[in-house]
Amino acid sequence: IQDSPFELIDRAMVSQMVQSRNPFSHKGDYGHAAIVAGSYGMMGAAVLCARACLRSGVGKLTCHVPASGYNIMQISVPEAMCKTGENANSAGAGETHVSPEMDKYDVIGIGPGLGAHAGNSRLLYSVFEQNRRPMVIDADGLNTVAGDKTLLGKIPPQSILTPHPKEFERLFGKTANDYDRIQTALQKAAEYNLYLVLKGRYTFIASPDGKGYFNSSGNAGMASGGTGDVLTGIITGLLAQKYPPQQAAIAGVFLHGLSGDLAAAYTSQPSLIASDLVDFLGQAYQAL
Ligand code: APR
Ligand code: MG
Repeated sequence: IQDSPFELIDRAMVSQMVQSRNPFSHKGDYGHAAIVAGSYGMMGAAVLCARACLRSGVGKLTCHVPASGYNIMQISVPEAMCKTGENANSAGAGETHVSPEMDKYDVIGIGPGLGAHAGNSRLLYSVFEQNRRPMVIDADGLNTVAGDKTLLGKIPPQSILTPHPKEFERLFGKTANDYDRIQTALQKAAEYNLYLVLKGRYTFIASPDGKGYFNSSGNAGMASGGTGDVLTGIITGLLAQKYPPQQAAIAGVFLHGLSGDLAAAYTSQPSLIASDLVDFLGQAYQAL
């Protein structure tokens, strides 16, 4: 590791980043985040992402979902506000997520469970235009960018993209091996001024300044549906609390993996589910 150009993300590194709360603070000090997520049949992704965002410590959260998901969000995530787009009776097309006021949020997390809808491309153009602060883009948000590559250049600078290997491949093409993928990620991160979080056993973060970080936490219990949606919520919440993007990415992936390790110790790797990561996030903070 000494001669490696990359750093290992461990507890010591992340404990230095985590901010303590001023006793006289109020919710306005911890930011207002928006989660743009969900579609008919995939509202769970929006719920997991929103709950993780709340547990990460965000001050206020508004979820933008299609009309079909409104009741689900209000019942599952009572702490969050909920908005549906203009076409309030739609069953879940991409164009129903966004109202023309996305600029008011400190940060936007977009993508989990969006589905593959014809309106997604327009949705992303609108969000990228309205809000130029660093945002988090995941899952079908990334797939939409992959399907319309001009969107890549429209992403707000310093945003954090969280592709799994398939999503990475759709965005930037096939790579010969892991080393090649890391080199491509570093090159693209610099080219587009973005953070690329390559998710996997040892999640790799490519920073636009050329630095790279490997995460050390997490386990195979996390290889189950919805765990990535939780990561998106955590990183979005950290950005809302004014963690600089590099710290939000690093602390986010480490806390996410640490929650997984604590949850697996409590239950077991096979029985770990994504909701457990949300439930153990508090203990992960305590363990730092
Ligand atoms: N060891 C450590 N961490 C792991 C392991 C492992 N063996 N397997 C998975 N993880 C972690 C990854 O690092 C990542 O943070 O779990 C998370 C999995 O994220 P995703 O691959 O995005 O999985 P998921 O949340 O189920 O995705 C939901 O969205 O991205 C789309 O196509 C995807 O339909 C899927 C949906
Ligand atoms: Mg995913």
